[in-house]
Formats: sequence, C-alpha cells, structure tokens
Amino acid sequence: MKKIKVMSVFGTRPEAIKMAPLVKVLENDERFDSIVCVTAQHREMLDSVLKMFKIKPQYDLNIMAHGQTIVDISNKVLKGVDEIIKICNPHIVLVHGDTSTTFNAALAAFYNKVPVGHIEAGLRSYDMYSPFPEEGNRKLTGVITTLHFAPTKTNEENLLFEGINKEKIYVTGNTVIDALLSVVDRNHVFEEIVLNNIDFENKKIILLTTHRRENWGDPMKNIFNAIIELVNRNKDVEVVFPMHKNPSIRELAYKYFNEYKQRIHLIEPLEYVEFANLMAKVHLIMTDSGGIQEEAPALGKPVMVLRTETERPEAVESGTVKLAGVEKDRIVNVADKLINDKKAYESMTQSANPYGDGMACSRIVEIIAENFM
Ligand code: UD1
Ligand code: UDP
Repeated sequence: MKKIKVMSVFGTRPEAIKMAPLVKVLENDERFDSIVCVTAQHREMLDSVLKMFKIKPQYDLNIMAHGQTIVDISNKVLKGVDEIIKICNPHIVLVHGDTSTTFNAALAAFYNKVPVGHIEAGLRSYDMYSPFPEEGNRKLTGVITTLHFAPTKTNEENLLFEGINKEKIYVTGNTVIDALLSVVDRNHVFEEIVLNNIDFENKKIILLTTHRRENWGDPMKNIFNAIIELVNRNKDVEVVFPMHKNPSIRELAYKYFNEYKQRIHLIEPLEYVEFANLMAKVHLIMTDSGGIQEEAPALGKPVMVLRTETERPEAVESGTVKLAGVEKDRIVNVADKLINDKKAYESMTQSANPYGDGMACSRIVEIIAENFM
C-alpha cells in the first residue's frame, strides 16, 4: 500500500503541544509515513514538549538565537523548510496556528507546490497589529492553505467570510483538548518543589503567564504593578509565575517582584504535564496566552485575559474567560472581585468547553486520508 507522506512542521511551545497528539496519531496509523521537522524557534520550551510526548523529530533546523527578529526567524524557516521539503517530497505539509514558523513553513510548501494543511485555522481578531504578528501570520497562511482545520464553527465562519471554499474547511475541535485530556490527572504529584510547598487549600493562588509582543513595555509594567497591588490588598493571595524564556520578560519580572519572593513565586517554564495540573488546582488564571484561553474552559477555571482583544470569543461566551485589558486599575478591580465575591467567582466556574471533545486529531487524520488515498 502506498503511504501518505505527511510532514508536520512546528517550532514553538504552543505549536508543539497542539501538534504532538496529532503526530502520535499519525505515527500509529500505517496508512501514513509521518515526518516531523522542528524549526526550534524555541529551544528549551520545545524540547520539554518533545520529551514529554516522546517525539523524535527527523529534522531539526535549530534556528533559535537570542535577540533575533521576526525577519531573522522568517529567513531561516523559509530556507530551512524548503531544503527539507526537497529532500522528503511530502504529499502534504501540516503547520499549526500563527507563529513565524507557521507562515514561513507554509510558504516554503507553497513555493514547492506541496499542499498545506493548516491546523487551528480561522482564528481572527480583525486587528492586524493585535496580536502581532500572529493575526497577519494566520491570515497569510490561510491564503496558501489547501485543507483548513478549524477548531470551531466561528472559525469556519471567519474563513467563509474571506472567500475560502466551504468544501475545504473542516470543523474538528482544537487539538489542545486532545493534549490536555492526556495529561490532567486528579492525583498528579508535582515535581517542581515550589509547587509542592504551596498551600492550595487555604490560599487563593493566582497563576500568571505573559509573553505577547504587544504587551512588551508599558502594558507589561501595568500588569506587574496590578499583581503587586493585588498581593498587598489580599493577604490570602499568592502568585505563581512560570516565566517565559524571553529574557526581556524575565528581567522585568525580577526587577518588579524582587521584594515579594514569599508571595510571588517566579519559576522556570513548567513541563506541560505540570502546568496543566497546576491550572486545574489554582483559584484564578491571569494570562495573555492564546492556548490557556482554550484549556481553562475545559477545566472550568476562571481566566482573566490580559489583552485588549481576543480571537477566542467562544471562551468569553462560555463564561470562563473575561477580557481584563492591560490597564492597572481595571485589572485590579476585576481580579479583586473574583478573589472576594464568591458569586462573581462561581459564575465563571461552570465547566462549558467550546473547544472540542479530545478527538480532533483522529478527525484530522481521517480527513487527510480521504483527500490523499
Ligand atoms: C513566539 C511566537 C508567538 C507565540 C509564542 C509562544 C513569533 C514571532 N512569535 O513568541 O506567536 O505566541 O512564541 O510562546 O512567531 N527563548 C529561549 N528559549 C526558549 C524559547 C524562547 O531562550 O525555549 C528566548 C530566546 O531568547 C528567543 C526569545 O525567547 O529569541 C523569543 O522567542 P521568539 O520565538 O522570537 O518569540 P516569542 O515571544 O517566544
Ligand atoms: N504552558 C506550559 N508551561 C508553562 C506555561 C504554559 O506547558 O510554563 C502551556 C500552556 O498550557 C499552553 C501553552 O503552553 O498549552 C501556551 O503557550 P504560550 O503561552 O507560550 O503561547 P500561546 O498559546 O500564547 O501562543
């Protein structure tokens, strides 16, 4: 039997988490020859996911360099993926989401006339500069994609609005739910010592993550000042902040939170299994991350999104996600209410999950088979 050669390309932590369960399904299905090419736009944060899901890429472009620009990343990905495509001759190249790896890998496939499958297609904020460069990356990828795998009906509608052929759009659910369900375990024991010493029963623990480019500078300072005010106002609150590896975020965090070591815990990025189980245990999540907005509703965990917009309106409609913006006073007011007003808090904890049933990957694989057998 002729196998379908599927080349999956990814490079950052969220792409890896959301592609890993798909790679596993492809690897275990004899209709496919699965090739993994990582760009390593992220290094440690990517390797941690590869290790956890036991994925050994056939190709590793190893492009990460400190201080590099979006153009540096783009040049390296375009050239590197082009070379690998020429060696492998895949039937289809799969990319995920909206990073610079995503768009440039898709562009390399397009220039080689290899069809592109876009996982997590159709998310839109309708503001090209927020999130930047992600809104541009996902729109540009959509234009050169053959099979669009949209997580939700809303995402499908966005693509239809842009004139994409309905027959090439498939609503599959988000593969992040497949990943999440594979790691959340009520009996999980943390490996991270800081987490083992936290009193989740008697303290209100806030989980903070932040990394978005448009939040660098004043918005990030506002967020950090808001965290300090919340800790000063509420004696039962502690904060866990697994810091993104980006040095500029870490330097600012150390500067702002140096005096609060007992209450604001600055830790290294967590392995996915640790992070997912931490989400399940905390009181409240404050984040500018995209993926966390999709995971939290599945866990019934309130999320304050530290951004001015979101391309994930389903999570807001489900009631578990609130747009809190990037102004200090508003962040403090919204969080204070969720810390001290039980009714307001409980109204956000109902477990509605708009992002899928954990079967997105097997749906995507069947659709690829239908199109290429
Ligand atoms: C990238 C994506 C963003 C995505 C985010 C997920 C682009 C332009 N940005 O942003 O869409 O939401 O990943 O986290 O594609 N670093 C390390 N080790 C790591 C990872 C990063 O040291 O494992 C440091 C390096 O100095 C690196 C810097 O962080 O240069 C920034 O990484 P980069 O991929 O350029 O941007 P992110 O902000 O991570
Ligand atoms: N995550 C993780 N460890 C951490 C922080 C986040 O495994 O210390 C996971 C999180 O559960 C989600 C993904 O990383 O699945 C989000 O990645 P990130 O915030 O870097 O990117 P975004 O989703 O904003 O593109």
